[in-house]
Amino acid sequence: MVRRIAFINEKGGSCKTTLAVNLGAFYAHYRRKRVLIVDMDPQGQVGKALGFEVKSLDQTILDLLEDPDRPVQEFIRSSRVSSLDIIPANKRLAEYASTAGSLPDHPHRLARALRQLEGYDYLLFDSPPSLGVSILNIMLATEEIVIPVSLTYFALDGCAEILDTVGRVRERYGNEALRVSLVVPALYRRTRLADAILERLREHFPDNLSQTVVGYDVKVDEAQSHGQTIWEYAPTSRGAELFARLAMELERWPAAR
Ligand SMILES: Nc1ncnc2c1ncn2[C@@H]1O[C@H](COP(=O)(O)OP(=O)(O)OP(=O)(O)O)[C@@H](O)[C@H]1O
Ligand SMILES: [Mg+2]
Repeated sequence: MVRRIAFINEKGGSCKTTLAVNLGAFYAHYRRKRVLIVDMDPQGQVGKALGFEVKSLDQTILDLLEDPDRPVQEFIRSSRVSSLDIIPANKRLAEYASTAGSLPDHPHRLARALRQLEGYDYLLFDSPPSLGVSILNIMLATEEIVIPVSLTYFALDGCAEILDTVGRVRERYGNEALRVSLVVPALYRRTRLADAILERLREHFPDNLSQTVVGYDVKVDEAQSHGQTIWEYAPTSRGAELFARLAMELERWPAAR
C-alpha cells in the first residue's frame, strides 16, 4: 500500500522541501522503497535540491494538471538516488493558481492525475507557502499531512489555519482519511526563545508533535546548495542523524503513538 504524505505549512522557510527531499531519499536509499515526490510549488525546489535545472524543463506538474488524463509516467523523472523519482515544478506552475478557477473540477485534478500511479511505496508532496488552490489539490490527493514548524517567533501563526483547512476539506470534500500525522519542530537552536516556542508547540499538539527536534546544521543547507541530499553530501553529519531519526519516527507512525 502506498503511503501518501504531504509537507504543508503556509509559512515560508519552514523546512517542507528539505524534509520531503531528505526523508524521501532516506526511504529510497536506506529502505529500498520506491518513492515519488510531487512538487506543487512554483519555486521548483524539489528538483533544485536534487540537482535538476528546473527552469528549462517542460512536461512539469503544470502540464499534468492542465491535462490530468495524460499518462502520469510521461511526467516522472528518475533522480540520481536510486528508486527516488520526482514530478518537478517550475515557475510556470504559478499560472495554475491564477487560471485554475476556470477549469472544470479543478480541486480534484492532482488526485485524478495520480490515480493510475502504480508501484510506489511512498508518494510525497511538497507544497508552496500559501493556502491556495495547490494545497486544496494536495489535500484531495493525500491522506497524511506533516507540518514542519521552524522554531521562530511567528512559528505558531499558520498552524491553526492548516488545521481549519484540514477540517473544512474533510467535511466539504469527504476526504475522511485526511489527517495530520506529525508536527515537526525544525531549525532548532538552543535559545530561550526556541525552547519557549517548543513548549507552546507541545501544548498545542500533545498527540502529534514529533519526538525528534530537527536542529540547525549548516550541512543541510550546504547539501542543497550542491543539489545533493544530506545522505550524499554529509551522511555522518548531525543533520543526517536527525533526519534519519525523524524518518524512522514517521515510518512507525501511528504505531509509535
Ligand atoms: N536542519 C537544517 N539546518 C540548517 N538549514 C536548514 C535545515 N533545514 C532546512 N534548512 C534550510 O532552511 C531553508 C528553508 O528550508 P526549506 O526550503 O526546506 O523550507 P520550505 O518550507 O520548503 O520553504 P518554502 O516555504 O519557501 O518552500 C533552506 O535554505 C534549507 O536549506
Ligand atoms: Mg519549499
